[in-house]
Amino acid sequence: MIQTSACLRNLLTQSLHPGSSLSKLAAYFCYTCRLASSLQQEHKLSDYSDNEYADLDWDNLGFGITPADYMYITKCSKDKNFEQGKLSRYGNIGLSPSAGVLNYGQGLYEGTKAYRTEEGRILVFRPDQNAMRMKMGAERMCMPSPSIDQFVDAVKQIALVNKRWVPPPGKGALYIRPLLVGSGPVLGLAPAPEYMFLVYASPVGNYFKEGSAPLNLYIEEDFVRATPGGAGGVKTIGNYAPVLKALTRAKNRGFSDVLYLDSVHRKYLEEVSSCNIFIVKGNVISTPATNGTILEGITRKSVIDIAHDHGYQVEERLIPVDELIDADEVFCTGTAVVLAPVGSITYKNRRIEFRTGAGSACQELYSTLVGIQTGLIEDKKGWTIEIPHQIN
Ligand code: COI
Repeated sequence: MIQTSACLRNLLTQSLHPGSSLSKLAAYFCYTCRLASSLQQEHKLSDYSDNEYADLDWDNLGFGITPADYMYITKCSKDKNFEQGKLSRYGNIGLSPSAGVLNYGQGLYEGTKAYRTEEGRILVFRPDQNAMRMKMGAERMCMPSPSIDQFVDAVKQIALVNKRWVPPPGKGALYIRPLLVGSGPVLGLAPAPEYMFLVYASPVGNYFKEGSAPLNLYIEEDFVRATPGGAGGVKTIGNYAPVLKALTRAKNRGFSDVLYLDSVHRKYLEEVSSCNIFIVKGNVISTPATNGTILEGITRKSVIDIAHDHGYQVEERLIPVDELIDADEVFCTGTAVVLAPVGSITYKNRRIEFRTGAGSACQELYSTLVGIQTGLIEDKKGWTIEIPHQIN
């Protein structure tokens, strides 16, 4: 059960005059108290069940939506700051039929994960990076964005109040999905007059139905994902529906996902529908340089760092599709995908196969990345944020 006795606010407010500015300041700085206060706005604390685990088949998590108990919502008008967010039960939200996001796709999303460690700690992976990426994306999409602190605070609140949905160690993660959308009504093409920042969560396992088995990718020749000058480099919701056609076609033909080429030369590797791509040749690990058409993945960035630490030479550059023929390994990275080996890529009816499994660079990098994310390896980089255990 939640304990409310020994918190900083209580200690201070016992000795300070209730309602004094010092007492208010103390309450503000007590993170768990702020959490309690956002919960109390909608629910009594006693509504919040602190059972250790939700009742779920933890051994068979895929990447479907199993909503965790609570979501976080806040709104703001154009050119104003977001209000303090409120936690409420996960459920439908009301939107005007003329909301900017519904009519003109003014929206961004993010994804981060909370992991449970062997000792029962809850760690969230680099939410500050998601916050910064949302800020950049919001600028591109003419939207106001929550401050880095508000974003990270919202993610922490969601991890804490939904902690019974964080899978047992080794079974998966709580996928946390922040959304920023134009919620105000528009008819003429213009930025919406009001915005909503919302965070919800769902426990997840492997993204691909293949589990941890190597992926079989298909190189798309008819469709492209992004164009220079477009918004391919930001995590706007509009980058995802247009790939569904190619993705569905490839899946129907037995492939795991689609690898897109650049839209100008139709020659250079860009990214996969759901993740970034890397190729390995000897000691050199290469990935397409981010130039506005490729998403700046947080896992991509983390893996580049880890690869350097492991002594690999890392190149961010243009990668002609022909280089695949000589590659030793190919792997994908993403928050949902984590770090997934690619067993084959099919291009112009030719299937190219790659090394996977024991001794591969992919496996080495995966072990370190997941080790840090799950607390098995000491986080010397300050990438993980520990969520306090309870409201105390
Ligand atoms: C993520 O990895 O978080 C993504 O946003 C990819 C999405 C297709 C699930």
